Amino acid sequence: MTRLTGKCALITGAARGIGLAFAQAYVAEGARVAIADIDIDRARTAAADIGAAAIAVHMDVTDQASIDAAVAETVEKLGQIDILINNAAIFSAAPITEITRADFARTFDINVAGTLFTLQAVAKHMIARDCGGKIINMASQAGRRGEPLVAVYCATKAAIISLTQSAALNLIEHGINVNAIAPGVVDGEHWDGVDAFFAKHEGKAPGQKKHEVGAAVPYGRMGRAADLTGMAVFLASSDADYILAQTYNVDGGQWMS
Ligand SMILES: NC(=O)c1ccc[n+]([C@@H]2O[C@H](COP(=O)([O-])OP(=O)(O)OC[C@H]3O[C@@H](n4cnc5c(N)ncnc54)[C@H](O)[C@@H]3O)[C@@H](O)[C@H]2O)c1
Repeated sequence: MTRLTGKCALITGAARGIGLAFAQAYVAEGARVAIADIDIDRARTAAADIGAAAIAVHMDVTDQASIDAAVAETVEKLGQIDILINNAAIFSAAPITEITRADFARTFDINVAGTLFTLQAVAKHMIARDCGGKIINMASQAGRRGEPLVAVYCATKAAIISLTQSAALNLIEHGINVNAIAPGVVDGEHWDGVDAFFAKHEGKAPGQKKHEVGAAVPYGRMGRAADLTGMAVFLASSDADYILAQTYNVDGGQWMS
């Protein structure tokens, strides 16, 4: 299948995990991709592994100059940006009484402001080209409902669902579709950190939290990055031209809406 032949994608936070799986899937569908990440060494390794269809771009989504430079470098090297995935994010967890302003500010800066201002920079490019585009934001089941120890991260992902709706309604006049994906629990380095947090705060053995959340998924296991790529390809393809402002659950049946 080559549903994205001729398309160019910028994917933030793509040096590892879900973003890397998206980059690999997009290249398999015929696209060229910019793997944009604050971890440029790992982004370079990832791009080299993928081959000529991938480039690595340094990008810190909390720094406007870095966002602008990454967009400009991607356009210079790939020629255009047809697809953006706002995937970069950090996890944050603490009991309500221990949340600090510094952690709140950092998590919102990366997860929410990073998404909004990267979306803005790429939308300006797409509008100037007048060729439309597809923008996909990474939400989460954590944005659907609060969790006792995860207030700040959950709030950032609820904000992503809302931003996706507003941006979609504003940008569709330019032929730009904005949608979001809400994964459930996806195993990988991100969840290694989550598991370590719960081991500390709930007195669990290493790996126990992962086992518990996986067993609670109606499908019967934690997700894998590869479980999400079909939705990411679909939303970036012309099959999704009439779809906007939606947040799709890809979570093994965790959330129903
Ligand atoms: N893993 C899950 O269970 C899960 C569930 C729901 C939603 N999500 C969301 O999916 C997305 C990807 O998750 P993942 O598990 O692959 O995460 P991950 O932690 O494995 O990867 C995140 C990437 O973002 C990069 N990054 C961090 N700060 C950055 C910054 N300031 N600028 C640019 N890049 C930065 C990191 O270097 C890393 O490569 C995130 O938005 C996450 O919130 C993940």
